[in-house]
Amino acid sequence: MDFVRGQFPQTRMRRNRWDDWSRRMVSENRLSADDFIWPVFVIEGDNAREPVPSMPGVERLSIDLLCAAVAEARDLGIPAVALFPNVDPSLKTPDAREAWNPDNLVCRAVRAVRAAVPDIGVMCDVALDPFNSDGHDGIVRDGEIVNDETIEALVKQTLAQADAGSQVAAPSDMMDGRVGAMRRALDAAGHQNVRIMAYSAKYASAFYGPFRDAVGSGGALKGDKKTYQLDPANTDEALHEVALDLAEGADMVMVKPGLPYLDVLRRVKDAFGVPTFVYNVSGEYAMLRAAGDNGWLDYERVVLESLMAFKRAGADGILTYSAVDAARALRRG
Ligand code: PBG
Repeated sequence: MDFVRGQFPQTRMRRNRWDDWSRRMVSENRLSADDFIWPVFVIEGDNAREPVPSMPGVERLSIDLLCAAVAEARDLGIPAVALFPNVDPSLKTPDAREAWNPDNLVCRAVRAVRAAVPDIGVMCDVALDPFNSDGHDGIVRDGEIVNDETIEALVKQTLAQADAGSQVAAPSDMMDGRVGAMRRALDAAGHQNVRIMAYSAKYASAFYGPFRDAVGSGGALKGDKKTYQLDPANTDEALHEVALDLAEGADMVMVKPGLPYLDVLRRVKDAFGVPTFVYNVSGEYAMLRAAGDNGWLDYERVVLESLMAFKRAGADGILTYSAVDAARALRRG
């Protein structure tokens, strides 16, 4: 290997590791609260909180408690939150029309958070699954998830969220052509500064299970999402998806899930050099949390090590349910 510059005993790799000051001096990556986006689940009600059984430590919050929690995240230096609604099953329909109701739960949550905590970024998922009686991200016709009709629905959803004050639209639906349609509609409506963070390389993953419990979409879901989400076997296809989303106007791109897809993250960052995010998804959180709660792993330390792995693999930011825990740990030092 031509990067070996010397040999033992002249070269001793342990010298730089010998003291804390010296390890800090040669450290190549640094994790900070600025790297985190905190996903939060919202429910109806006042002063209401519900634990998510498959995500110990995570609670669904009513809008008042959400505002308090977001203020705490802001105080810890976390730059943005992503809001996910747990929608009453009676509002779910095959056309998912509740998704663009300007007074739906997530739009009300956005307005409340923007008013209560103006100096934190607010991001919303663009996908129909929380509102769809079929549990899919798109509209289902004769057992198929139809692309172009879904785009029209997604555009309406994007505009409702932006009108409510959402600053980042994050399409997680994996329909073809949605980023361009969203960008054109946002610009036409005067929302030129609403950013698009595209879930560009989103895989058909079993690691989303706890999230579907949290938003209550899992029970409704018929079949799987393999006709729109990526095959875990593929990485060239992920680069193709990222290229298309950038061409359509995405400001930021995302790889999801996180820990099992660090190779994809590194390839995306190297190939495009654009703001690249990663979603440390619900199943990844559940694994570390469960092992921690059982005393098998030190939760805080494995979280910080995992988040550092994302930085090392090229992430500019990380969506993580551990954002507040990690920001507190970093503050303590
Ligand atoms: C919905 C959506 C999912 C996640 C974010 N947005 C689940 C899915 O596609 O089924 C997963 C998040 C997580 O597991 O933490 N489009």
